[in-house]
Parts: sequence; structure tokens; C-alpha cells
Amino acid sequence: RKSQAQNRDCLLLCFSIPCVNLPTLQERKRSLTMNEVDVVICAGGTGTRLRPLTAGVNKHLLPMWDEPLICHAVRFAKSISDRVLIVTEPDAIGSMSKVADDCCFAVQDGPNGIADAINGSRFFCRVESTILVLLADNLFDSQCRDVIRSVVKSSSSQSEELRTTHCFVSKVTNASDYGVLLVDADGFAVGIEEKPSSPMSDLAVVGAYLFNQQLWHDLFHLTLSDRGEYEVTDLLRAAMDRGELAWHPVEGRWQDVGGSINQYAQSFVSQFESGNNK
Ligand code: G1P
Repeated sequence: RKSQAQNRDCLLLCFSIPCVNLPTLQERKRSLTMNEVDVVICAGGTGTRLRPLTAGVNKHLLPMWDEPLICHAVRFAKSISDRVLIVTEPDAIGSMSKVADDCCFAVQDGPNGIADAINGSRFFCRVESTILVLLADNLFDSQCRDVIRSVVKSSSSQSEELRTTHCFVSKVTNASDYGVLLVDADGFAVGIEEKPSSPMSDLAVVGAYLFNQQLWHDLFHLTLSDRGEYEVTDLLRAAMDRGELAWHPVEGRWQDVGGSINQYAQSFVSQFESGNNK
């Protein structure tokens, strides 16, 4: 209890973002071995596209077949690392901590975007870790999950790969609903745009990202996008401009649950049909 209070003071001082369950400074300093993975699950936002379902409840607490949506992201995260932080809105933290009681939590003050949520994880992530960011409204089937998991494992164990930011893409027919990646004939990422009205390609960036410590510098330089958010796509663009963005196609079925009620309902049914990918 004492250490939680200390951590709360620490975050309030620096970011005005209250938190619970965060590790103490001593814990963060302990065993700072190279190449360990810290997972940050972004579970904030207003869930506008799922209204009225989200009028009184955080999107990530909605049922996804036989459990709340957030549990899927937590299970995936825990399959990679024991160190998992959920960043969510103040009203959701109580309920969410009941279904994810083995995770740490930080509170995102407003719906200011994914990069803002990542910024709130600054005090959780260790100084030399690899940072896996997951969007809690994305579902990955076992094939997608294997691709992401193998990239995470190899990038956190090879020092060369640690200098690279990784994103994962899937071909879609509605690319203007996503971050979109353009790849040249040699396979290099050469363009990235958030929800373009005329997409440069059909490669949607899915909600799993792997960052190195350069992340903290790039966050510092972000500005608000036209939709009033700090965009994860701008973080990827910063890495791309340095020639440090790797991309990987995810095979299998990836689903963005938060796009519309229709998408949510389809995901619900397919979780049932596929045995929940547990
Ligand atoms: C977010 C990202 C977008 C990404 C998508 C995946 O969009 O900004 O780049 O393609 O998640 O689900 P949002 O859900 O914030 O609209």
C-alpha cells in the first residue's frame, strides 16, 4: 500500500497521470538485464464507434464471447511477458482490475490517443526493455499471434533487431479506416498514413507494435493530429524516416473490434466459432 502511494506521487509529479499497482523504483531498477519485454495494453478511449453499447461502459469491458474483451489482450500479453501494464480511463480502472488483477494499471486522463497512452507507461517500462504495445480492441487468431510472438521473441533476443521498430500489417478492403503502410518494390516501408481518404496501399497496420527505447524521444516530439489525438502512426513514421521501421504481414484472422457495432458483433460470433483462441 505504501509503495502504491509512492508511485502515485511519482506519476502525479511528472505527468499528472494517477496509477495503481505500479512497481517501485527499486523493482524497476532490479534485474535490468538487456532484452526483456514490457507489455503496454492501451485500453482507453471513448468507444464512440460502438455507441450506444459504450454509453455506460468502457469498450474493453464489453463481452467478447465468454469474457470481457480486455481478457483477450491480457492473455496474449502474458504469453510474452509477466510484466503487463494496462492504460485505461479513470472510470474503468476498478472493473478492469477485477478481471486483470495480475496486471499493473495507469490511468489515461482523456481520450488523447494511443501515443498518449503509451506515454503514460514511461514509469513502468524498464530502461533497457523492448516495449510491446497492444491495442485491447484488436483480436488476433492463433496464426496472427504466432507471427507477432515470434517477432517479439527474436527482436528481444538479438541486439541488431533491438534498434528497429516493428509493426504488423494485414491486407484489407477498407484501408481508409486504419493506419496504412506503403512498401516499395524492395520491401522497405516508404510511407505511412493514419486513416487516409485515398489509401496508398491495402496494408492496414494492426494493433501490435514493438518499440525500442528511442520511443521515449519520439514521444517528446509528437504533435496533435487533425482528429485531436497523439497518433501511434506518427511514432512509426519517425522510425520509418530513420530507416528503422520493419514490418511483418500477419497471417490468419485479425479483427479490429472497435470499428463499428457490426464489426463487434462479427468478432463476437467468430470468437464463439473458433473456440476463443485460448
Ligand atoms: C488505431 C490506430 C491505427 C490502427 C488501428 C488498428 O486506430 O490509430 O493506425 O490501424 O488502431 O485497429 P483507432 O482504433 O484509434 O481508430
